[in-house]
Amino acid sequence: MIAIHNSKTGFHPRWISYCKRKNIPYKLVSCYDNDIINQLKDCDILMWHHNHLNPKDLIFAKQLLFSLDQSGKIVFPNFNDGWHFDDKVGQKYLLEAIDAPLVPSHTFYSKKEAILWANNTSFPKVFKLRGGAGSVNVKLAKTKQDAIHLINKAFGSGFSYYDPKVNFIERWRKYKLGKTNFYDVIKGGLRFFKKPKFSIINGKEIGYIYFQDFIPNNTFDIRVIVIGKKAFALKRMVREGDFKASGSGNMQFAKEEFDERAIEIAFETSRKLKAQCLAYDFVFDENNKPLIVEISFGFAVEAYDTCPGYWDESINWYKGKFNPQEWIVDDLINKI
Ligand SMILES: Nc1ncnc2c1ncn2[C@@H]1O[C@H](COP(=O)(O)OP(=O)(O)O)[C@@H](O)[C@H]1O
Ligand SMILES: [Mg+2]
Repeated sequence: MIAIHNSKTGFHPRWISYCKRKNIPYKLVSCYDNDIINQLKDCDILMWHHNHLNPKDLIFAKQLLFSLDQSGKIVFPNFNDGWHFDDKVGQKYLLEAIDAPLVPSHTFYSKKEAILWANNTSFPKVFKLRGGAGSVNVKLAKTKQDAIHLINKAFGSGFSYYDPKVNFIERWRKYKLGKTNFYDVIKGGLRFFKKPKFSIINGKEIGYIYFQDFIPNNTFDIRVIVIGKKAFALKRMVREGDFKASGSGNMQFAKEEFDERAIEIAFETSRKLKAQCLAYDFVFDENNKPLIVEISFGFAVEAYDTCPGYWDESINWYKGKFNPQEWIVDDLINKI
């Protein structure tokens, strides 16, 4: 039997309707229950598309899932998919350790070493917090002075995961493009006075700094998602006058948009990581070589419904609609 976390968001509704339609035995559980482990005694599988912006999830989702994983239950996401979720610092070491083509990434844990590095490197560089999505915690350090300013903050007052100004500007941009309503802009204004709960729980990002080499002239990034032996992809155009693509809302889907080398790298990396489900963001360097920017087990649901097909591990293309959430269920059942 499959246990599915009872939620109306993320992958859950699709998992539930697939189980219903296929008569796959399942039960709904709340992962927040104190006796959740006991409730799972009669289940082989737990599926929980936890979210880094959900204040409850981010406190303990990894701990619950990996406890079950270690005890021998099948879980989604499992340890290999999920320990590095929303943790670009973790991903740097992981991808370096397996020789994956990660954009050269630099982390420092003392101000002295960070400044020494800044004095001896070239600019621009891309500054990131370890967590965050939709480009909210990513910015360009154009000069050494920008970098020093960021370093002082990282080892001084620290950064918040939620920057009301960045958030407001993004809402305004989306409103002007007709991608959101005015109510959303007002909500962004109110956020100057009341921070979201997830950012209060996360506390300050302090005591480390993370930079990536800036890979110039990318007008898009591509996201390749590998689930088991299948992959599909999405191209995201950068925001106007900006280098950041993720969260822009401007997307392309046609097969011709995707460099097959990126699909191959994604498959190979997933094999090395023994991952069930991982999304890879790529940019392309001056020699047009695909480089990984970050990885994530979770991804938006509806956006990928427009994908016209998918690839197998030999990079054969299968045209037609598909439902990746159903693939996840099938893959987990095959592991029982
Ligand atoms: N090192 C880099 N060089 C050039 N562009 C980058 C680099 N890192 C990220 N980007 C751009 O910024 C966007 C957001 O970065 P990313 O690390 O994927 O953060 P997020 O987790 O918010 O999606 C990417 O979609 C990409 O367009
Ligand atoms: Mg990204």
